[in-house]
Amino acid sequence: MKIALDRESSEPVYLQIRNRISRLIETGGVKPGDRLPSIRELARSSQVNKLTVIEAYSVLEADGLIHARQGAGYFINQQLSTQPKTESTFAPTQEVIIPEKGMNSFLDIRNAALQAQAQKDFINLSSGFPPASGMDDLQRIARRAVKESIDDLFRQNHPQGQPKLRGQIAQLLVQHGLEISPENLIVTNGSMQALALLAQQYIQPGDWVIVEAPTFHGFLSILEQAGARAIGIPMTAEGMNLQLLEQYLQSHQPKLIYTISSLHNPTGITTSLSHRRQLLALADQYNCWVVEDNAYEWLAFEPTPPPIKALDQCDRAIYLGTFSKTLMPGLRVGYMVVTGKDYQPLVERKLLHDMHVSVVSQAIISEYLATGHYRRRLNHLRTINQQNRNVMLQALEQHFPADASWTIPNGGLFLWVHLPKTVAMPTLCRKAASEKVLISSGSAFFADQQGYPALRLNFAQPLEDIQRGIEILGRLIGEGE
Ligand SMILES: Cc1ncc(COP(=O)(O)O)c(C=O)c1O
Repeated sequence: MKIALDRESSEPVYLQIRNRISRLIETGGVKPGDRLPSIRELARSSQVNKLTVIEAYSVLEADGLIHARQGAGYFINQQLSTQPKTESTFAPTQEVIIPEKGMNSFLDIRNAALQAQAQKDFINLSSGFPPASGMDDLQRIARRAVKESIDDLFRQNHPQGQPKLRGQIAQLLVQHGLEISPENLIVTNGSMQALALLAQQYIQPGDWVIVEAPTFHGFLSILEQAGARAIGIPMTAEGMNLQLLEQYLQSHQPKLIYTISSLHNPTGITTSLSHRRQLLALADQYNCWVVEDNAYEWLAFEPTPPPIKALDQCDRAIYLGTFSKTLMPGLRVGYMVVTGKDYQPLVERKLLHDMHVSVVSQAIISEYLATGHYRRRLNHLRTINQQNRNVMLQALEQHFPADASWTIPNGGLFLWVHLPKTVAMPTLCRKAASEKVLISSGSAFFADQQGYPALRLNFAQPLEDIQRGIEILGRLIGEGE
């Protein structure tokens, strides 16, 4: 590719490159799926600095015109011919689920996921993570972070997390309307550890706990280990069904309500502001803790309502976040916001568990936050995820049966498909795997694997995988048993 540049022009060179390439896309000079020249090649042929090309490609990516694939380069995106529908028809039956016996093994689910990721050439719509693309800065940032944390590696460190990182997270949370002090934060080994510590702090064997149905399967397993019993209150398009919530608060006096209020896992639903207010009021009335686990909040395409924690005047809610869904899960850095008297006991529990989160992991996150690379990463993810979500919605309209319905999430990583009753999920998963498509069966997200036939689909995947995967699934569902 040769790009003619006007060195005398007042238009910056990176914008000239961006404009030429977007014109080529418009006029069909390059086609969806075509690979763009590597950064080095284009820098050489156009006689510009590599950083100029990186900047031009970043803007094209933010425009939704190209995407990066780890280790393979930059590719032209599929252009959507029409916009998918914006109104979801998702309206599941409102049945409460109270499991009889423990059947939620998070280990089994993890082992299946480990096996899945080891498969080559599979279309992985079952992943729970963001794509690795766009992380070219990682090595440089990690090197700098290690250098800066050498002294801390040979010292005692704060069980609640490094003061610098806690300050940065507190600043970040202000953007979501959550104004807290770094002294309200505990940095944890992923939000999974925060959930385990909270279960120890608040739940006794035999206690009832309210969860959304469906919900994050990791928490179902934590409840089971704690000897607690889950009450699965069905989701509506606005969040947990509040009439049923009140009914079960009254009848069972649960200790805690667990909610994923923004971009819920697995449905992608964001609980509305009025629902958040009512849920908190009910928790106050029935003297119940609220654990708000907003792992996907930062991946919203449009602003989400303030967290329930931001509305909480009585230290009733605990807010959880993580960098696993925005940066990478392997660093294991999450956090919880705890106000009031339970902060110290929770720090003590954290200390007794593992002293503190790895100093290097914390330093890497700090470096991302300090340098603006985190903001850049979020912009990258939001742009490609929105485009990929639209492609998935279009493919679902094209290939799935008319009696299936799905959510239209405003961000996050997943959408949730409610399938007709006649679909046998184990058969569908098996047949899909034999055609090299991996999916998460909805049953994993219901206590005791009850609930209706459903699929959680990760849309943060390469566009070709989404189109091909949904086409295969649509055909298999159509074929039936
Ligand atoms: C809602 C929710 N909470 C917590 C977690 C655990 O994340 P982490 O990697 O931060 O432990 C996940 C991961 O799947 C999740 O979806």
